[in-house]
Amino acid sequence: MNNRPKVLVLTTAEQLAQTAAERVNAIIGRAVAQRGVSSVVLAGGETPRRLYQILAVEPKSERIDWQSVHLFFGDERMVPPDDPASNYGMVHRELLSRVPVPVGHIHRIRGERPPVDAAVEYEAELAEFFGGMLPRFDLVILGVGEDGHTASVFPHTAAVSEQTRNVLGYFVPQLNSWRVTLTLPVLLNASNVLFLAAGKRKAPIVREILGARVPAPELPASLIRPVNGTMHWMLDAEAASLIPHASGES
Ligand code: 6PG
Repeated sequence: MNNRPKVLVLTTAEQLAQTAAERVNAIIGRAVAQRGVSSVVLAGGETPRRLYQILAVEPKSERIDWQSVHLFFGDERMVPPDDPASNYGMVHRELLSRVPVPVGHIHRIRGERPPVDAAVEYEAELAEFFGGMLPRFDLVILGVGEDGHTASVFPHTAAVSEQTRNVLGYFVPQLNSWRVTLTLPVLLNASNVLFLAAGKRKAPIVREILGARVPAPELPASLIRPVNGTMHWMLDAEAASLIPHASGES
């Protein structure tokens, strides 16, 4: 399987969000058509915010069959859901509060719980949904930090080498705080991965990651190469500005 990432460069962050929404629509629509259900992992942070706003207000014709969608989270900060830093809180404000996803289809990481307990509980929820098999999500949406982290797999931490657990609750020294995250075995098992990066700040790390000839542990996002799935990097022109000859799909 050629799992070299496909890179799509959009002129603006708005066009990036609009195009990403079309891709999300298509992937969910395909999964629901094939199996009657779709499982999607949502990213936190700022980049996907506009994508979620667009998904929430799509015209009826493209509206996702939300009754058939299960939404999960790639990671969470250890704060209550109503905390401004909560990934769930942001997704709830921008999307979940505006679309008819059944409550039982929203699988959040409980940031208000002790981290290790939250990880164990989320892992059990995944095991129930995936019948004890290694979770294989139809779509995993990811962002990337300027240090190369993705989800909450931070460089030079235990999360990079975690191969047994599907969910890890751990202390992140560089943040001086705890995180709960999906681990690489789960992220690599996805059917489709969509990386989103926008803005000049991300240009250096995007160049490093996409230029990495081999996956580099010090760049966790470069380790995400789906074993049996597709991966797209969707960038705006600023984030792609240091990639040679970056224009359109490549
Ligand atoms: C989080 C995210 C994290 C995020 C990157 C990029 O909890 O913050 O899961 O992995 O995707 O840090 O964040 P921005 O989109 O805000 O740049």
